[in-house]
Amino acid sequence: MNYNNVVFETSFGKASQLTQSDLVEIAFAGRSNVGKSSLINKIFNRRNLARVSAVPGKTATINFFRLENVRFADLPGYGYAKVAQAEKQRWSDLIETYFNSDRRIELVFQLIDMRHPPTKDDLLMIDYLVEYEMPFAVVLTKMDKLSQRERAERLASLQTEIPYADQITILPVSAQTGEGIEEIRQIIEE
Ligand code: GTP
Ligand code: MG
Repeated sequence: MNYNNVVFETSFGKASQLTQSDLVEIAFAGRSNVGKSSLINKIFNRRNLARVSAVPGKTATINFFRLENVRFADLPGYGYAKVAQAEKQRWSDLIETYFNSDRRIELVFQLIDMRHPPTKDDLLMIDYLVEYEMPFAVVLTKMDKLSQRERAERLASLQTEIPYADQITILPVSAQTGEGIEEIRQIIEE
């Protein structure tokens, strides 16, 4: 795949706006500020394909990108405490509709901040993906912020923190240095 040929398609902010998809899809999920949009930009060699922000809650819509016959979805981040209840409800309606509608979601990249153990919401997402038999891989973000030793420690701890960790592909990445990005592309191609 030539990653430079990606195009932005559309954004949806409401569950009722979501249209059916005929294409195979790959989604990026994870808590707010974990680095979903940054990772997407890095995969596709773009600075501003997906909007990045230091302020959590930047991506409040599901944004779709298309490369050849694959559609990519940048999902809004969860777990941002400061948003109003109504906004949280809109988020969960949107995500639930996305996962429950009849789409060809062939892979979910579930992002977790490598510096910390998975949050309660991260573990709920993983439970959900397991329960609904969605193929997924765990992507550990911001690995550049850890030393080699800290990386090894986090990887070891995750083996007990994530259920069935030995059966899950777990990939450390950095959207800053590009480490792990080739491996992500490899998984996408597969
Ligand atoms: P929402 O849209 O709010 O759900 O957030 P997001 O998951 O899309 O996060 P985003 O990509 O906007 O990144 C959040 C912050 O983390 C930004 O300040 C990024 O620059 C930073 N960041 C993302 N990835 C990395 C990384 O690999 N390394 C470092 N050092 N910083 C990163
Ligand atoms: Mg985002």
